[in-house]
Amino acid sequence: MTTKNWTTDNIPSQQGKTILITGANSGLGLEATKVLSSKGAHVIMTVRNLESGKEAISKIKKDNPNAKLELMQLDLSDFSSIHKFSDEFHRKHKRLDVFINNAGVMTPPKRELTKQNFEIQFGTNHLGHFLLTGLLLDVLKKTPNSRIAIQSSVLHKMEMGKPDIYFDDLNFDKQYNKDVAYAQSKLANLFFAYELDRKLKANNTAITVTAAHPGWTKTNLQRHAGFFMQSIMDNIIGQRVEIGALPILRAATDTGAKGGEYFGPTRWKELRGYPQLVKSSDKSYDKQIARKLWEVSEKLTSIKYNFN
Ligand SMILES: NC(=O)c1ccc[n+]([C@@H]2O[C@H](COP(=O)([O-])OP(=O)(O)OC[C@H]3O[C@@H](n4cnc5c(N)ncnc54)[C@H](OP(=O)(O)O)[C@@H]3O)[C@@H](O)[C@H]2O)c1
Repeated sequence: MTTKNWTTDNIPSQQGKTILITGANSGLGLEATKVLSSKGAHVIMTVRNLESGKEAISKIKKDNPNAKLELMQLDLSDFSSIHKFSDEFHRKHKRLDVFINNAGVMTPPKRELTKQNFEIQFGTNHLGHFLLTGLLLDVLKKTPNSRIAIQSSVLHKMEMGKPDIYFDDLNFDKQYNKDVAYAQSKLANLFFAYELDRKLKANNTAITVTAAHPGWTKTNLQRHAGFFMQSIMDNIIGQRVEIGALPILRAATDTGAKGGEYFGPTRWKELRGYPQLVKSSDKSYDKQIARKLWEVSEKLTSIKYNFN
């Protein structure tokens, strides 16, 4: 069932919850942090740059001095940083109610690589979150009614990105196209969300996995998108971050949401509006591709998910 105009008023109290969000210093992650802390959650903000994280905290505390915020350093483009983060997280925390996979990088004009030599969008947006989620699964399993919410994009299904998982050239060694590489990473986010949900259900594990996309929202993400996209699309179509953050907030907090559900706006070809239950591309529900991507991702990140 869809609910019209789902807003932050629909979010119940988050008192007592520990929520972890990646990319919390900017754009959608910052806005989600602001809202979730205003609802009483203890929010762990992961950031690449601690200075930028401190600035983000000051912004939130200006309006909400009692916000419970914790800053932790994490670079998703470096597996050693992810392991270090996970070790520190396990030392400090015994519960994790909600984990929001939000951080992302979009369309750098020149091909860039992660520390372990993966194409930066596949490596950060997909592999980094895949590894981190696997490392935190034990804490999520121990926390009653825990949830993982994963941020994708409408570009996972737009023709311009020729969305697919390019198993024969996952890192675009042969030919780099920034839009195709971004679309691959955002389609991978959905394959990951749906396959994780299926695997958790098959193992009778009570963690809910949901997904979301923010339509087109004005943030720092489009800094590589070129003049047309930035100045025209952002100003005409781009929605305010307060609206763009609602789908991931719904995916993270709606108590009626079920595993495998995907939330996003429905107006203007899904680029604008309030979050509703939406369908992702037919391809994203392909279980065979999802299983293959899962196996490849376990191999590339050297992690074996433990569902027991
Ligand atoms: N805005 C949109 O219209 C739109 C549309 C579809 C999907 N999305 C998705 O929404 C998510 C958030 O994007 P946004 O629009 O809020 O953009 P943003 O303002 O650029 O925020 C992106 C966040 O990701 C972080 N990040 C980037 N690379 C990272 C890395 N290697 N390790 C850790 N963190 C890293 C950034 O940190 P720094 O500040 O240090 O760079 C920043 O905090 C992304 O997954 C994006 O794909 C956005």
